[in-house]
Amino acid sequence: MTARILDGNALSATVRERLAQRAKALAKQDVTPALAVILVGDDPASAVYVRNKVAACEKTGVRSLKFSYPSDASPSAVLDKIAELNADPSVHGILVQLPLPAHFDADLVLEAISPLKDVDGFHASNVGALAQGKPLFIPCTPYGVMEMLRSENVVLKGAEAVIVGRSNIVGKPMALLLLQNSATVTICHSQSRDLAFHTRRADILIAAVGRPKMITGNMIKPGATVIDVGINRQLDGPNAGKLCGDVDFESAKEVAGLITPVPGGVGPMTITMLLANTLEAAERNLGRGLEGNLKGTS
Ligand code: GUN
Repeated sequence: MTARILDGNALSATVRERLAQRAKALAKQDVTPALAVILVGDDPASAVYVRNKVAACEKTGVRSLKFSYPSDASPSAVLDKIAELNADPSVHGILVQLPLPAHFDADLVLEAISPLKDVDGFHASNVGALAQGKPLFIPCTPYGVMEMLRSENVVLKGAEAVIVGRSNIVGKPMALLLLQNSATVTICHSQSRDLAFHTRRADILIAAVGRPKMITGNMIKPGATVIDVGINRQLDGPNAGKLCGDVDFESAKEVAGLITPVPGGVGPMTITMLLANTLEAAERNLGRGLEGNLKGTS
């Protein structure tokens, strides 16, 4: 049996149409939703991500402001900019692209962003709120994964969900969201013994480790839902230079029931949920409460 493909581009297009309607509704009330993006250094992958985020904003009716700093920028210059953006009522979301150069204390920078504008959901108070099941902003990648699972009516209640990767950006918030939805959650990482033992038990397998094609078909339970968060460049072989995920798609699709491709899977949904969070922040500013994030994007 070959798995069905969960097309992140198609789902993104549908969700972004609804988001564009919300942006129009805001415009009618003289509010232009606005996202400020801060990029420090010259990491090529970060530059591409930021370019894609800015382009997505423009297409959806969200104003974007981009602030670029050289890799030797002083942390205080970035902190001053964040303070200025926090105080600017025309800016609804603030994002600092990670990773930051080594001389930055990333936690200090993330904590400087107002929790009310923290559309990445990385501020400690937002992480805490998520852990308590009362998120103000859901981190964009896990939020996108949840929307993908929801779009396919994947049953979460009682499901064995296994996450490979324990990052603050994906693995940990992903675990909290799945737990909140009554899945039985296992988090695996580089020190886990017998990874395949865990992954073969998974009804829902989330790969978020950043290791190309690490999860192979023989590690997957037949019929499982496989979500590949990895975005890696293939270093060798006939496809050198092309993108691939953490899952070996060719062997995995012969075993899984539903699978996301790379590219065209989780990636576009991450940006879509960033737009959703920015609109949510702008709507909240009008005093509309938390509905969007708590009920999804519609
Ligand atoms: N770097 C990798 N993923 C992300 C993300 O979701 N947000 C930010 N700010 N930086 C990242």
